Amino acid sequence: MKISFHQISLVVMAVAMSFSCSLGVSAQQLRAENIDEVVKAMTLEEKCHMVLGRGMHFNDEAKFPGTAGSTFSVNRLGIPETYCADSQQGLRMSATRAWDHHDYYPTDFVASMTLASTWDREAAFKVGKGIGNEVREFGLDWILSPAMNLIRNPLCGRNHEYYSEDPYLSGTIAADYVKGVQSEGTAACPKHFVANNQETNRNNNISQVSQRALREIYLKAFEIMVKESDPWTIMTSYNKLNGPYAVQNGELLTTIVRDEWGWKGMFVSDWNAGDDAVAAMLAGNDMLQPGQDKQYKAIYEAAKSGKLPMEVLDANVKRILEYVVKTHNFKGYKYSNEPDLKAHAQVVREVGADGIVLLKNSGILPLAGKRVALFGCTSYDWISGGSGFGGTSVGHYTVSLVEGMRSAGYEVYKPLIRTYTQHIAAEEKRLFPNGRPPFSLMPPARADEKQFTADELNAAIEGSDVAIISLGRKSGEAADRSEADFYLKEGEKQLIKAVSEAYHAKGKQVVVLLDICSPIDVASWQNQIDALVCTWQGGQESGFSLADVLSGKVNPSGKLPMTFQNKYGDAYADKNFPSNVDDKTLGAMFMWGYNKDQAPKERKPQANIDYTNYEEDIYVGYRYFDSFGKSVAYPFGFGLSYTTFGYDNLKVTEANGVFTVKVDVKNTGSKAGRNVVELFVAAPNSKKANKPEKELRNYAKTKLLQPGQTETITMQVKTEDLASFNEKASAWKTDAGVYTFMICSSANDVEAKATAKVKAWTKKVNNVMKPNVKLNLLKR
Ligand code: BGC
Repeated sequence: MKISFHQISLVVMAVAMSFSCSLGVSAQQLRAENIDEVVKAMTLEEKCHMVLGRGMHFNDEAKFPGTAGSTFSVNRLGIPETYCADSQQGLRMSATRAWDHHDYYPTDFVASMTLASTWDREAAFKVGKGIGNEVREFGLDWILSPAMNLIRNPLCGRNHEYYSEDPYLSGTIAADYVKGVQSEGTAACPKHFVANNQETNRNNNISQVSQRALREIYLKAFEIMVKESDPWTIMTSYNKLNGPYAVQNGELLTTIVRDEWGWKGMFVSDWNAGDDAVAAMLAGNDMLQPGQDKQYKAIYEAAKSGKLPMEVLDANVKRILEYVVKTHNFKGYKYSNEPDLKAHAQVVREVGADGIVLLKNSGILPLAGKRVALFGCTSYDWISGGSGFGGTSVGHYTVSLVEGMRSAGYEVYKPLIRTYTQHIAAEEKRLFPNGRPPFSLMPPARADEKQFTADELNAAIEGSDVAIISLGRKSGEAADRSEADFYLKEGEKQLIKAVSEAYHAKGKQVVVLLDICSPIDVASWQNQIDALVCTWQGGQESGFSLADVLSGKVNPSGKLPMTFQNKYGDAYADKNFPSNVDDKTLGAMFMWGYNKDQAPKERKPQANIDYTNYEEDIYVGYRYFDSFGKSVAYPFGFGLSYTTFGYDNLKVTEANGVFTVKVDVKNTGSKAGRNVVELFVAAPNSKKANKPEKELRNYAKTKLLQPGQTETITMQVKTEDLASFNEKASAWKTDAGVYTFMICSSANDVEAKATAKVKAWTKKVNNVMKPNVKLNLLKR
């Protein structure tokens, strides 16, 4: 058996410890107040172990099987092991344990874009709090979420873990999620810092981004979150950014986040990110997970030789101990293994419903008829979230659409249940002759759509008042979606056409539900149907949330957190994204990278695989479509309701550089509902100044307004929030002039506007993070 350096050093440490104990030396015991002394009392070996994780805890012997990892313990100094787990949608942990007859099912909360679609910061807090509570009650300390990379392209495989194409919406939803997690005394870990916007070759791709786009878009989301919620930890990303790996970049981690933003927490790497442990320590990345022998050796030797100054290593260790003293395990919390799952299920149901976005409605919704025919495999195989570490994939159950509709009093047309059950089982056999793999990062293949004869359709029309067709898309970590996945498959197109023509011929209507992980094409086929509902992926209570909205028990109030473009390729960012991946890129996460046959050094760098040029610059999402006058299928911020709203009395006042925006929102329709109020601001001469046409600067959500009821909404914007980044001056600058404040119901629908004079404001920052290639940037 090969004995590693890491193992030898553990033995040496144990001997040293027993020697010191036998001499009766009583070591310092860690407390929040004596961290400096404890660091001084640590041996070099202990420090080198402390900055590394303790492997992944997938095996049966682990204390919490199926979790992502833990931190090093030093018993003689009272430093306990602390435990972390993924992620975004809930605590990812094995639900059963080999030597134990209990089960440990955490809640499968909603996917991130569902949460962002609520535009409701209280909802984000509730979800974060629920997850933080489950982490605590199941005995762990630290949840590896929220993931909050910008949605730069609809094909990114992890979009379901991310919030929005807009940094303000992403940053504020993430901030309240973090506050919720940490209100339970659980550590949050916003990730993946930063510009980790594709999965293809994710461990080696270089994101090449202008300083301006970094500051205004990609860093901005994190900056808002850090300043508002002070997360205890942040996870650095796999990718390289303008040269070095993010995890090894001192300008990024120390100069910007620590020095400029004033953040004092602990940076942890993504799992096995980077290639130089010492460089990571020097950059200010305190902990490397899950920890490798070669990293231990490199750090130990560098510390011995002075290449890694002891004060740097001590600072890394100190920040780790500052995290440790806040944890449940340090405090000896007696966990119950019994979080209030019922209360959390209620949160999932409510937030899941509030995150549903009504895109089109002929008036068929809410459903009046009580007999529904459910078409599409997804109607019987609902997708509650993505795959990979972001999804829990171990939730106890997912409430099906059938169960949800029945519980709301609908009669579900039975022959289709039988037909689809048999069809899906046959497809499952065809796709997985040896059974499904127990766990896969990749989203599993899904059944092809069943087609129907005219007789079968006529019988369904007889037996139902309305057809509901569900379309599903699932994505996951480690692979991007392909361009083909953006479009409907032939079988899906045929199904929509056949069902719509048959139902319409008999005077009945068709509703389509989009159970999707990211935007897809709707423009080319939606004129065939009567109502379109983007349900996103709503976690374990999906069927109930859906029925609540379809029945009208809940009036939809969700708004799109990203644009639905007409075609793939319409967004400028699409030019620089790996939209036609093949299976060679799937192995890319395992370091060797794309094109395995060639050693990395011999390989000619390939665009969008080895490097990705962010040539759209700041024109991501609506900032592009809106500024360049391009049409879209559904704009950012769009979402219908079963009622209507009017806006009145918009007033903008200023005091000490803070603009207060007030507007009366009235429910002008006939059903109670909530409304999202979006505040966009346009800078003067935006085109000449090469700024976006308008940008989201704040938002709010009304309470439930009864028909005729009015609520006055108040939002604030500071002069500095209106700044853009000036690369030449290396400064944030708000130009003086007359700005237009717009109350919108989407990026394309301005409901009211007012102007205000804004004074110039500027703040110099460090001239860091320059791209090391010339980028051909889009300008207005
Ligand atoms: C993912 C992270 C995750 C980590 C630990 C990585 O592959 O990128 O999001 O937290 O694994 O499971």
